[in-house]
Amino acid sequence: MDKALLAQTAAAMVAPGKGLLAADESAGTCAKRFAAANIPDSEEMRRTYREMLFTTPAMKSTISGVILHDETIRQKTSNGVPFADYLNSIGVIPGIKVDAGTRNLPAAPGELISDGLDNLQARMKEYFALGARFAKWRAVITIGENIPTSRCIWANAHALARYAAICQEAGIVPVVEPEVLLDGDHSIDTSFDVTEAVLRTLMSQMADNKVSIEHTILKASMVISGKDAKNRASQAEVGARTVACLKRTVPGAMPGIVFLSGGQSDIDSAAHLNEMNLGKNNPWPLTFSYSRALHFTALKVWKGKQENYKAAQAAFAHRCKMNSLASKGKWTLAAESA
Ligand code: 13P
Repeated sequence: MDKALLAQTAAAMVAPGKGLLAADESAGTCAKRFAAANIPDSEEMRRTYREMLFTTPAMKSTISGVILHDETIRQKTSNGVPFADYLNSIGVIPGIKVDAGTRNLPAAPGELISDGLDNLQARMKEYFALGARFAKWRAVITIGENIPTSRCIWANAHALARYAAICQEAGIVPVVEPEVLLDGDHSIDTSFDVTEAVLRTLMSQMADNKVSIEHTILKASMVISGKDAKNRASQAEVGARTVACLKRTVPGAMPGIVFLSGGQSDIDSAAHLNEMNLGKNNPWPLTFSYSRALHFTALKVWKGKQENYKAAQAAFAHRCKMNSLASKGKWTLAAESA
């Protein structure tokens, strides 16, 4: 295990004022997002969209790394430069999503397990050669009647830990992402309890599987009321309870924690991250690793049309800057409209 390389990558991923851009949507997810914005879907459209994001000038100062999809890491800019090489040239670390998506967990109605451990060692070697220096594996935990079960939490934590061990052996920093879904009408208390159970199990599985905490980044979901909850917790409460839950469960040795946006609005995702960073002495840097909250607005502005390219880049740059401010506790609603 190349500890020096892993430590250098992990530190750069959570450098002050920067966060990760999640641009690793599968072709299927892109098709849905494109359809919602009336954009015809094709491999070339997906390439053009990613190029539009990656060549936005604000990337350099606000984005430390980009999570790519298998298709994207093999694509090139319109000048023929592989995306991974282009990102390296602007000081942005290429990363790769390696889970193969979810399927039903057997005999567990409503619960999911992520696939992708088969051949992962061989795939990691190839991704390293293609330039990836960090990876992502997303596990999905659903809150509902009598779920999540401890079996589902254990199975997903075990897979995350095995993936993380394989990454580290290959010189790739694992981003471990156990996403507790926002869907449902549950309270913030339920979100707290489930997130705590998930993170405790994940940390225990990582220890059992000899994963080095010092060379791992956690991608967490926030502790937050369900999307359809009647009395939704305030932004301040989401910030405070998320940090409290993380302090209980995540060793201070971890180099950093990044968050997914999970379907929160652009403003909520920035405000919640900002709350966590408001003059507080947290044990780890807390920053963003958003997909929708960084570039869904840009996609809607772009509409797949060349004439909207610059306006879409401006919309994306704005979200990058707002979330960069939030990672420093310097975001304000006034900055949003400035
Ligand atoms: P969202 O920010 O849209 O939740 O996506 C982040 C991500 O990478 C989920 O795996």
